[in-house]
Amino acid sequence: MKIIIINGPNLNLLGKREPNIYGSLSMEEYLLKLRAMYSDIDIEYYQSNVEGKLIDKLQEVGYTYNGIILNAGAYTHTSIALQDCIRAITVPVVEVHISNVKNREEYRHHSMIAPACIGTIQGFGMNSYRLAVEALKGIDKTSE
Ligand code: DQA
Repeated sequence: MKIIIINGPNLNLLGKREPNIYGSLSMEEYLLKLRAMYSDIDIEYYQSNVEGKLIDKLQEVGYTYNGIILNAGAYTHTSIALQDCIRAITVPVVEVHISNVKNREEYRHHSMIAPACIGTIQGFGMNSYRLAVEALKGIDKTSE
């Protein structure tokens, strides 16, 4: 099983960005733990601060991988282009947020990408990524 975690803008700063909200672990540190936990799954990682680059990556992997875990950061709340892209590809996309965006500022309550994703996991800290892996594993099993 091959999946990819795609992180959007400012998520390269995990570990030092508002640790009270996003925790003190860097993505690289977290990925070490996650990959050790799921040694049977090929977990790729990509991050970009650029909307178009996120779209390029989604298009590149979106017809062949088993699943995509997408934390689009602030583009979640604004990007019709990302929504269109997720609709265009065939690989299931799980929307992920580290924080619970529903109990934060009002402008974070709406997700432009949610209607195109199979589901959303939010508010469980870095664990949100692991729960998304579990969700994708579940889909993969039931489609066998
Ligand atoms: C985030 C929530 C977004 O509102 C914010 O812009 C982020 C991170 C999260 O993981 O909690 O950059 O997606």
